Amino acid sequence: MLPKVTLYNSISVDCAIKDFEVNLGLHYEVLGRIGADALLVGSNTAKKGIESCMTNIPTEEQTDFSKPKVEAKDDKMVWVIADSRGILQGQLHVLRRAEYAKDIIVLASNRTPKEYLDYLTERNYDFIVAGHDHVDYRMALELLNKRYGVKRVATDSGGVLSSILLDEGLVEEVQLLVAPTIVGKKAMNLFRTLNQSVNLKLEKLEKIDADHALLVYRTHM
Ligand SMILES: NC(=O)c1ccc[n+]([C@@H]2O[C@H](COP(=O)([O-])OP(=O)(O)OC[C@H]3O[C@@H](n4cnc5c(N)ncnc54)[C@H](OP(=O)(O)O)[C@@H]3O)[C@@H](O)[C@H]2O)c1
Repeated sequence: MLPKVTLYNSISVDCAIKDFEVNLGLHYEVLGRIGADALLVGSNTAKKGIESCMTNIPTEEQTDFSKPKVEAKDDKMVWVIADSRGILQGQLHVLRRAEYAKDIIVLASNRTPKEYLDYLTERNYDFIVAGHDHVDYRMALELLNKRYGVKRVATDSGGVLSSILLDEGLVEEVQLLVAPTIVGKKAMNLFRTLNQSVNLKLEKLEKIDADHALLVYRTHM
């Protein structure tokens, strides 16, 4: 079974994904309301996230080679990181140490360097190999459901991964948290790599906090 995928982003009024101040507290509060059991993260997003909070990657310690201990009642999401090129090699312990995720699962493909798969195995990260070149998301989502019981996925991507999921007809819902700002001509559009038009049905429009708007759309799947 395919999990239900909600594409979630904070955007400016002109649909930029960066170069404005994202209200992170609000972003994660609204994300939490989706009720997803997994957060699908693009490798660029994960790398930028790590680099924005530290200039030097800390040296790994013995504890970085073990899975985090998870309480039965822990309702944190599993982070599923799509990284077929292994760009997070040597950095994943930063995310594991942050303890925002219940666990980390990496999505890989047949092109993923063996060295990266060895790195993951040695450190007890779960990974799923799906696809020949980049990740085959339909297959990966089905395996996430089959192996881990994942039923609801939210995305954390700057747009490239989200557009691929839309192009492949895997997105059921789009949630956009609109910040009260216009970025202007340098705006990097969320859907800049989408190959087709997608028709949506507005499900909900909500004022969030003093000046944000949450738009919830359903796709025609
Ligand atoms: N405003 C927001 O809500 C928000 C949220 C997240 C991130 N951001 C910002 O967005 C920026 C990064 O976003 P991004 O859009 O560049 O990257 P991204 O979506 O985070 O990463 C690109 C993903 O697409 C995959 N991919 C690339 N080409 C593919 C293909 N042909 N087939 C299948 N998968 C493919 C890559 O996987 P491979 O490993 O296979 O290459 C990678 O996981 C950062 O600046 C970040 O801060 C903003």
